[in-house]
Amino acid sequence: MKKVLRIVLIGVGFVAVALLGFVSFVAIRGIPTYDAPTIQELTIEATPARLVRGEKIARMHCIACHSGADNRLTGRQMDDLPELFGTVYTMNITQDKEVGIGNWTDGELLHFLRTGIRRDGSFAPIMPKFATMADEDLKSVVVWLKSDAAQVQPSAQEAPKSDFSLFSKLLANTVIKPLPYPDKAIVIPDSTDEVTFGRYVADGLGNCYICHSADITDYNPLHPELSKGYYGGGNKMITSDKKPIFTANLTFDEETGIAKKYTKQQFIQAVKACVRPDGSLLRAPMFPHQMTDYEAGAIFEYLKTVPKIKNDIPSKEQEALASK
Ligand code: HEC
Ligand code: HEC
Repeated sequence: MKKVLRIVLIGVGFVAVALLGFVSFVAIRGIPTYDAPTIQELTIEATPARLVRGEKIARMHCIACHSGADNRLTGRQMDDLPELFGTVYTMNITQDKEVGIGNWTDGELLHFLRTGIRRDGSFAPIMPKFATMADEDLKSVVVWLKSDAAQVQPSAQEAPKSDFSLFSKLLANTVIKPLPYPDKAIVIPDSTDEVTFGRYVADGLGNCYICHSADITDYNPLHPELSKGYYGGGNKMITSDKKPIFTANLTFDEETGIAKKYTKQQFIQAVKACVRPDGSLLRAPMFPHQMTDYEAGAIFEYLKTVPKIKNDIPSKEQEALASK
């Protein structure tokens, strides 16, 4: 008996030492760097249609995160990111050749937006990756980044360097990995099939599932529908005034989801203008999405087909506030 206990204790000791060793390794290693990628070079033709589309997508994603004090995309602190991640700044993505992305090729930009890997193999852990966005949409973003738009004109203003917490470093050494560059074309589905199109708008174009599933540190970027608690909400975030907030349950669960709360028209209003059916406003980090009514409505039709999840968000929030 005693011998068994000793073996168990030695075992626990080994695990503890190994864990401590791994944590110290991660603390020193920081955010990992990978082999420099082979980048498929290509020239993206700057058509007027792509420019319009690219601007719309940039308004949905890039501008809010990267907008600096000078209204150009010079980077800012991500103050809505839980403190657990450290003090994280976004970067200058104007056309400045020194501190911005003025020297990046079209291929390098596409590669980075898909995988999170820069040409030198360094990795961006926090920046969302656009793994399932259609090629045409991602190319449009690149066209916009290289356009005459005011926000991307060269600015030498540099955002401070991020101070990633040990937690962020642990994530970046374990679960948050670079994504593979797709080996097949990704196309925008036919918009006449409302459900399939809505799924693309929600997952591929809008990244809605990243916030609206159970855990922002644990979602499936290559197969969004396999994410934990897909569209069941409950992901804990913080509002701009540092209060806890949980993302909404967007499944069609009758009691806790949106089935009885929203008509299609009201849902479109919520997505595009952040207005609830009673006229009150949805709080950040939810934000108004630049979409057509058809796009937002198609998301509603798609959500009807997603497995229902019972998750009562308002009472979760009450509990969190009460325990503060
Ligand atoms: C949720 C916030 C967020 C959004 C949305 C976002 N970014 Fe970023 N971006 C970051 C952060 C943070 C970094 C710094 C790297 C890191 O820590 O992940 C970054 C880094 C970058 C870089 C690397 C710059 C360099 O010099 O290394 C590029 C390029 C970039 N972003 C482009 C974009 C584009 C284009 C979009 C829109 C399609 C976008 N980002 C959307 C947060 C964001
Ligand atoms: C950055 C995170 C984030 C992203 C991305 C996001 N949401 Fe939200 N969303 C939230 C949060 C947080 C709330 C809760 C707001 C509140 O309670 O005031 C919310 C609330 C909502 C609501 C209100 C639901 C209710 O029960 O009242 C709808 C509808 C919604 N989001 C749809 C979407 C759609 C569709 C997308 C993608 C196009 C999306 N959201 C993207 C964070 C996000």
